[in-house]
Amino acid sequence: LQNNPIPLHDLSRRARAMESALREACEAVIGSGRYVMGPWLERFEKEFAAYCGGRHSVGVASGTDALELALKAADCGPGTEVVTVANAGGYATTAILHAGAKPIYADIDAATLLMTPQALEKAITPATQAVIVTHLYGLMADMQALGEVARTHGIRVIEDCAQAHGASRQGRKAGSWGDMGCFSFYPTKNLGALGDAGCVVTDNEEFFRRLQSLRQYGWRDAKYHSPVDIGNNSRMDELQAAVLTALLPHLDRWNIRRRDIVRHYREALEPLGLRFQQVGHEQAYVAHLCVIRTAERDRLQQRLQEESIATDIHYPVADYRQPAVVKILGASAPLPVTEECLPQILTTPCFPEMSDEEVARIIGVIKDFVHK
Ligand SMILES: Cc1ncc(COP(=O)(O)O)c(C=O)c1O
Repeated sequence: LQNNPIPLHDLSRRARAMESALREACEAVIGSGRYVMGPWLERFEKEFAAYCGGRHSVGVASGTDALELALKAADCGPGTEVVTVANAGGYATTAILHAGAKPIYADIDAATLLMTPQALEKAITPATQAVIVTHLYGLMADMQALGEVARTHGIRVIEDCAQAHGASRQGRKAGSWGDMGCFSFYPTKNLGALGDAGCVVTDNEEFFRRLQSLRQYGWRDAKYHSPVDIGNNSRMDELQAAVLTALLPHLDRWNIRRRDIVRHYREALEPLGLRFQQVGHEQAYVAHLCVIRTAERDRLQQRLQEESIATDIHYPVADYRQPAVVKILGASAPLPVTEECLPQILTTPCFPEMSDEEVARIIGVIKDFVHK
């Protein structure tokens, strides 16, 4: 065991544990003769909306599409601005630019690495149409306070829940706080498909109708008729919907295991001066990624690599520094907390099927590193 590589994720372990349920789901779809916009999508949309405590959900092809279509449904187009953070991998930026709006970056809190209400307030201008709040690494942002700022200024709230399936604050799940909640079911997510998929959860009837139309060429009421919007082709297929329906009942159990893994890391390493996201409420955190902060990031990553332990950096480049973004927006003023945290973050393995021995081995290597 000592030198067996430990991957960042191992989806084959999940596939083995869930093999019969996954095969059954796929076989049901194969035999049905319906592969897009069929009964499995309808069923998953109902079950996932209910799970999130929302009235509706609209299945789409990816999390990035979910964000783009939500922005379009909320009229975030040319001439409007959308506030978001710059430390969340660029997905929101991509969606905002594809929608034709301009991203405006708000700084984060050093303890949670999430957008603060003060930073949101500061970023709002008369052109602001919406904010995308990202619940990063599995930790929910302070939706109460952020929602109040948004309401005061009359802007829409879109939650990016791609890393926070099942998290909740005050008994309300991620995705049910904003006007729309966007999810990715990319395979490594807390709820992951066997390919790409995403969805938007909403209580708003108008957004619901518009999203249904936007995901399918802008068609509304009848095929081949696009009376309101030019849409995309962004449908969740029946195979992914059936797979996700089979996996959804296991999400809470997996989230508990993820939280448990990060608790082990935290209890062993926080006393040694390594920093973790500060979690105020246990239920608000579903431990999508275990992100450790240290000034010795690069050396620690090197050390773990020598021990065949995979790590990653989520994310290495602030959105406003991406050359492709600078080409469009020009140079932006750097955000102090974002800049300070970026070179310190390191993601260590955290997935429900990890063994306790693997977690203990990684902790041992990191402890050893700190003591030297
Ligand atoms: C925070 C966040 N938002 C959006 C996305 C985009 O999702 P997708 O890869 O399904 O487009 C991801 C993941 O990839 C993500 O981590």
